[in-house]
Amino acid sequence: MSFIKVAVLPGDGIGPEVVAQAVKVLNAVAARHKFVVQLEEALIGAVAIDKTGNPLPPETVDLCRNSDAVLLGAVGHPKFDNDPSAKVRPEQGLLGIRKALGLFANIRPVATYPLLYKASPLRENLLRNVDFVIYRELTGGIYFGNKGRTNNGEEAYDHCLYSRQEILRIAKMAFESARKRKKHLTLVDKANVLETSRLWRETVRNMAPDYPDVQVDYMFVDAASMKIIQNPSFFDVVLTENMFGDILTDEASVITGSIGMLPSASLGENKGLFEPIHGSWPEGAGKNIANPYGTILSVAMMMDYLGFTDAASDIRKSVSVALENKIVTGDIDPHYARSTEEIGDYIANTIGG
Ligand code: IPM
Ligand code: MG
Repeated sequence: MSFIKVAVLPGDGIGPEVVAQAVKVLNAVAARHKFVVQLEEALIGAVAIDKTGNPLPPETVDLCRNSDAVLLGAVGHPKFDNDPSAKVRPEQGLLGIRKALGLFANIRPVATYPLLYKASPLRENLLRNVDFVIYRELTGGIYFGNKGRTNNGEEAYDHCLYSRQEILRIAKMAFESARKRKKHLTLVDKANVLETSRLWRETVRNMAPDYPDVQVDYMFVDAASMKIIQNPSFFDVVLTENMFGDILTDEASVITGSIGMLPSASLGENKGLFEPIHGSWPEGAGKNIANPYGTILSVAMMMDYLGFTDAASDIRKSVSVALENKIVTGDIDPHYARSTEEIGDYIANTIGG
């Protein structure tokens, strides 16, 4: 019987509620597929600041390092957002854990469900056949470059740096994913302006001959942001750097109709962190109304990553059946609005059935 250890970081706002549902589902697939899962919780984000003064306490990093995978809820609290002088911020916890675990590839699948077509701001004819995945570089670029102030604080800078090696390792993942999908890779950059983008383009162009079965195209980020709205079914695998990926993944999420449905994986050489792409939604916290599907589907991504592919497909099947039966939260359909817990129970109870 196999054994996995999962670090659970519920975080802030609705994080603990959605994570609780995902844990139910994880326990249900473990029981059915006969593996043992050991769960251990740790602090991250605003709750960690409140309790320890540190958004990423060292014990949290240690626990994650000693686990096979990490399940995260959300971080963020409005009390820090409007205070530009705040020295500690919840988001430092998230950026810190990505860096500490070397999670260089953020993978965000964007698929539409017919049930959600009405909730999308796009017309239905644009939504059919939308199924793409964004590979966002996560530990480099402007997010992690030198930053600071000069000229008595009157000037500020954020340095954007990429090495060929950083580009190669995520590009390889994206090419391999394209190979298993519709064999179409789009590199999104700003190579008409930025030197880092030119290095991305050069690196990807040099790799392309090794993947003759994959069609590669190159698109500037401003054009890509239009295409995601005008013709989202054009895309299969999108590869991009950290900042562009941050923006494009939010843009892409709204076309699906609910940001609450979307999972993500952040992978390094030997570690994976799984989290919904939505934030901590403090106004919704404690009300049992948050959509837990993004977190539940993140567990499916975790199962794939750990090699329990049957468990992953069981979760996805239960979610499809639940959606067909309109087992949804109010963000998707206010008429049927089920609670967060009801959805977790439904999915856990229908696993494999
Ligand atoms: C995300 C978030 C984070 C990011 C924030 C919370 C630091 O927006 O995961 O996309 O910018 O990477
Ligand atoms: Mg973001």
